[in-house]
Amino acid sequence: MNDHDVPEEAKRRRTFAIISHPDAGKTTLTERLLLHGHAITAAGSVRARPGRRSTTSDWMQIERDRGISIASTVLRFEHRGTVINLVDTPGHEDFSEDTYRVLTAVDAALMVIDGANGVEERTLRLFEVCRERGTPLLTFVNKCDRPCLPPLELLDRIQEAIGIAPTPVTWPIAQGREFQGVAIRHTQTVRRFDRTSAGAIAGERLVNEADLDRRDPDIAAALEEVALLDAVGADLDRPSFLEGRSTPTYFGSALMGFGVGDVLDAVVDLAPAPSPVHDTAGVPRELEAPFSGFVFKVQSNMDARHRDRVAFIRVCSGRFARGMALTRSRGNTRFLANHVHDVFGRGRSTLDEAFPGDVIGLSNARDLRLGDTVFAADPVAFPAPRAFTPELFAEARNVDPQRSKQFRSGLAFLDEEGVVQVLRHQDRGDQLPVLGAIGDLQFQIFQARMEQEFDTRVELTRLPPKVARSTDRASESILATIPRLEVLRRSSGEALALFPSTFIIDQVRREFPDLVLR
Ligand code: G4P
Repeated sequence: MNDHDVPEEAKRRRTFAIISHPDAGKTTLTERLLLHGHAITAAGSVRARPGRRSTTSDWMQIERDRGISIASTVLRFEHRGTVINLVDTPGHEDFSEDTYRVLTAVDAALMVIDGANGVEERTLRLFEVCRERGTPLLTFVNKCDRPCLPPLELLDRIQEAIGIAPTPVTWPIAQGREFQGVAIRHTQTVRRFDRTSAGAIAGERLVNEADLDRRDPDIAAALEEVALLDAVGADLDRPSFLEGRSTPTYFGSALMGFGVGDVLDAVVDLAPAPSPVHDTAGVPRELEAPFSGFVFKVQSNMDARHRDRVAFIRVCSGRFARGMALTRSRGNTRFLANHVHDVFGRGRSTLDEAFPGDVIGLSNARDLRLGDTVFAADPVAFPAPRAFTPELFAEARNVDPQRSKQFRSGLAFLDEEGVVQVLRHQDRGDQLPVLGAIGDLQFQIFQARMEQEFDTRVELTRLPPKVARSTDRASESILATIPRLEVLRRSSGEALALFPSTFIIDQVRREFPDLVLR
């Protein structure tokens, strides 16, 4: 392939991530999507099982012990001639800033909710990141084979929780044991399935609504609801979906593999192809411009034997080819992109070329940092994504005073890599900084890497719950006068005020209405 193919190749790419609460069915759905896309041949290939040894990426004991995959990886497969990049969002115990960061590299998100629970807390937090970025959102209501909330109530709950309108594309016919299939609203057909005695799907068939037996109360009820939805115009509307104002909604069961094809079709037909990314000056980088991309995640020691470091890059423009000479915009340094990996699940294979929307992993790039731009020609710099507001805090103490130099350099290195956020205050000096994180695992990784890579033992003391708000210098001097409030600095210089609760934030705001608190 050559550079002339770039616009065509970009057009046939879709890059998305799944946002969900633990146990909603992300892993099961991911597996089903891959099966549907023929990227894997057996269910059970994606989930990391406790105790199972993997070959390439069991980079740390923590990962082995917990049987989870810390590395956020990219699953790539083709469906109907479209290249789909499913960027995995670390979840469960490995929920961390990386989970949020992944969302800076995708063009759409798929919200998976458990039909019995509606939109849950973790999903909401991830949705906030999508909302801020204007990321279009698809919704899959999972577990329809189990007792669920009534579907109309679910629509209410979605709308209430995220403030955007769900537009059902399919509609469930009954639920739980009686679940029969889904009505496909715009074609006035129903896709039904027959079950085996064990409950699995024996086969699917498409039936015209007109040919259905309406004496079946479940069918009658579902079709009445569909008629109601038609009457109130809760219809799929692609422009408002693309603007983040509505979310096309699908129903199904990941476990049964039912409704999964609808979601995959939605990714192909509705989700946007990559579009030009704006540079720091606000100028869009055309897709056909020479290769460029930005680092959205850095993962160290994915391969324990090599102590390597992989920079994950989202391609923004042009054609990437292995062996290319690239420039890092920060500092204008040149390097050769020889060690390129297509990261599929936990395995890695070498990747020869990539196009806008794709994600590549560069493994020899020791100097690449989070937020760096790389390009082949025609210099460009993309804005670095801002740091997320930490939600957990711990005080870090160097156990061995002899190793204060190593302690300092380890802090700086791991801060830069985004493992944790190092927050300082002059009264705390260099030796007692506060670490900020989104997930607990970040602290554990920090501690383990300080020991392994910097030979420094660090004691962490978790601070009581705090709510952080970034602030400016003028507000900082006012805040510093309030007892029990601490204003700390990120390494970027940005000030972060730590409050004991949102109640206190509200009180402080009332008392000092001019304060800047973001
Ligand atoms: P997650 O990645 O979002 O955390 O969820 P995961 O896919 O691991 O699913 C969580 C549990 O929900 C699993 O059961 C899974 O089998 C079940 N599940 C997922 N999708 C469906 C569905 O459509 N219908 C039903 N009935 N169950 C579903 P588990 O018992 O916790 O794990 P496992 O032992 O089955 O692996």
